[in-house]
Amino acid sequence: MRFRKKHYAVPEMQKSHYVLLNMDDFTGDWSSYFASASLPYAVELGAGKGKFLAHKAKDDPSHNYIGVDIETNAMVFAKRNLEETGVDNALLLCHDISNIEGVFPKDFADTLYIFFPNPWPKKRHNKRRLTHPRQLIQYHSFLKDGANIYFKTDDTELYEDSLSYLPAMGFNLLKSSSNLKVEEDPTGIVTEYEQRWRDQGIAIKAIWAQKEKVAPEALRGRLEQFHLDEKAKREAYRQAHQNT
Ligand SMILES: C[S@@+](CC[C@H](N)C(=O)[O-])C[C@H]1O[C@@H](n2cnc3c(N)ncnc32)[C@H](O)[C@@H]1O
Repeated sequence: MRFRKKHYAVPEMQKSHYVLLNMDDFTGDWSSYFASASLPYAVELGAGKGKFLAHKAKDDPSHNYIGVDIETNAMVFAKRNLEETGVDNALLLCHDISNIEGVFPKDFADTLYIFFPNPWPKKRHNKRRLTHPRQLIQYHSFLKDGANIYFKTDDTELYEDSLSYLPAMGFNLLKSSSNLKVEEDPTGIVTEYEQRWRDQGIAIKAIWAQKEKVAPEALRGRLEQFHLDEKAKREAYRQAHQNT
């Protein structure tokens, strides 16, 4: 997503209690950003302009919602969406998700949403995907055992690869669909990007998964194995093409 620089975005967000622009300013207590300190947490990665976050926080007062994104030009609209709803159970965090380990404490959230992230189709860029094993291992650091992940994409290759990334990294597949109907969607909200793809007749792919209990050292072993398997696949491909 490319935006022309909006010079008002950062100053506007600096004044809002809905936005934490920099982890250097973190109070040290996530509950201090919410009206109710006792609610469980749900995290949305790549919240964009915040349509999902604002609707969900309003519809579901049983959770405190945190939307993470790095693009301040989009987040300023998310901030306005939250202001419009007036919810007291949502926060926006400006942060690079590729470096999210340590941002939230262990056993922090019971729900994770990832909707329409960049598919990074080139092989050498796959590791930047938000569902790549290098990312999934970081999500283990703050998700409770049994936490649910809801993932939607328009991209077939990202969907198919995610169907192997998730179980490889300790997330049991509960359900998947290569053509999700709106009425079958347990998240209940059509996101901004989803609407664009649906309007163009593009099938929406979705995966629901649940975090298993896996020891950190076993997870590191799984990530290493994943990298070895990828290397072996590349080598087999290289050899096959060398001999033809
Ligand atoms: C295509 S938009 C989707 C927005 C929204 N989820 C939706 O469905 O409408 C992807 C969002 O992910 C954010 N994003 C991508 N990579 C990120 C990263 N490494 N850290 C933080 N945000 C990221 C982008 O800034 C963008 O707002």
